[in-house]
Amino acid sequence: MNAGDIVILDVEKLNSEGAGLARKDNFVIFIKGACPQDRLKCKITKAKKNYAEAEILEIITPSPFRIEPKCKLQKVCGGCVLQHIKYKEQLNYKRIIVEDTLYSILGEKVTINNPISSGKDYNYRCKVQYPVRSRGGKLQKYNTRLYAGYFKPGTHDLVNIKYCPIHPAICDEIIEFIKTEGELLGISGYNETSHSGELKHIVLRLSENNGDILVVLVVNLDDRMVSNKFNLLAEKLSKKFDRISGVAINFNPQKTNIILGKTTHLLTGFDFIEEKLSDIIFKISADTFFQVNPGCANIMFDYIKNYISNNFSTPKLLDAYAGIAAFGITLSGLCSAVTSVELNTHAVSNAIETIQQNSITNISVIASDSLEYIKQCSENFDIAILDPPRKGCGEEVLKNILRVTKNTIIYVSCSPKSLAQDLKYLLKNNCTIESIQPFDMFPNTPHIENVAIIKIN
Ligand SMILES: C[S@@+](CC[C@H](N)C(=O)[O-])C[C@H]1O[C@@H](n2cnc3c(N)ncnc32)[C@H](O)[C@@H]1O
Repeated sequence: MNAGDIVILDVEKLNSEGAGLARKDNFVIFIKGACPQDRLKCKITKAKKNYAEAEILEIITPSPFRIEPKCKLQKVCGGCVLQHIKYKEQLNYKRIIVEDTLYSILGEKVTINNPISSGKDYNYRCKVQYPVRSRGGKLQKYNTRLYAGYFKPGTHDLVNIKYCPIHPAICDEIIEFIKTEGELLGISGYNETSHSGELKHIVLRLSENNGDILVVLVVNLDDRMVSNKFNLLAEKLSKKFDRISGVAINFNPQKTNIILGKTTHLLTGFDFIEEKLSDIIFKISADTFFQVNPGCANIMFDYIKNYISNNFSTPKLLDAYAGIAAFGITLSGLCSAVTSVELNTHAVSNAIETIQQNSITNISVIASDSLEYIKQCSENFDIAILDPPRKGCGEEVLKNILRVTKNTIIYVSCSPKSLAQDLKYLLKNNCTIESIQPFDMFPNTPHIENVAIIKIN
């Protein structure tokens, strides 16, 4: 197979990035924008030793699962590459993605439950993070035009987005307002090449519970260089939108892909939103983790709560990578004692406030690196909940988790690949998988959250 070859392909399934997967002459071929059960005429764009990539020239027979995407920018924006596939089928193919990923790393087939659907397949995303850029404007009154949106897949080329159906429509209105008023105030967008310009990102956090919105303006300035332009923009935002409960400025003058810098100042209102999980109101600051789809998060939290209440009587729980201690706090009523461990000190402060407000007395929150804490820990837990960032836990953490945990690990993961790598270590060390339950936290994208229940033998 060579680049430039024209081939007819029948699409079998999706790969972990959401591209279609077809086979020809023992080659696996990935096709962006394909749908399982499409018959396609394609051109090979890249041919490697054992796989190739192709682009669609013609849809010969469309799949019965193919639909018109809601968003006109779906083909250029890297955000939601599955929008052209019926939602029910997305769930089926995501299960296969998890199964395939585990098989490729573990070398054995693991049964994956059918994914539990997100309550909503659109308007679900309650955290928006758009990079901002500038381009020279034609109109004299503007120093520059501000653009904001997502990057095209695999690039840092910005797609200027005015409408995105994944988040609530109010987010589009706020972002358009920031662009227009920011231009009038002479705020410049960030230039990655020259590391110049002011506004790097617009971050919005919405509460599904009470509708409040926190706006965070991430700037390429240090905190001694605040310009009055941002105070004026904050005032205008609060005046225009009743739902904005606070506007903050985050200083991130480093040349980095990390969105938020270490320092955040409040410009108007409050520097947090409140969200409800399992009937408890949580405080969420600008830089603390919270699931982007609160509706689906509630379903996942109930699932874990039910599992523990059906299988344990007042267990002792370790909640590692705890964030605002969402698991620790919502499960504390079922447990004799809970220890939540989290690195981000703002998240720890949010957790402590929630604990005090709800008069919970059986939980301690420890501000620490999970590994450092577990290494020196001499306690014994019945259950460990692990909810690490995308890169997973790694062997050193797992080795120590097995030393301090007697019965069960509940592993919550947003990356099937790192989940599989960590499972490989656990399976080699006397553990067995009881179940893997996917939750579709991110409809229309290839991403999926999994809860693995792992027994320690
Ligand atoms: C995927 S989030 C899970 C948060 C929480 N369990 C929840 O559901 O809201 C991962 C969390 O791990 C924290 N984290 C990352 N590395 C860490 C480390 N080495 N030790 C402790 N916490 C860490 C992050 O700050 C983040 O809050």
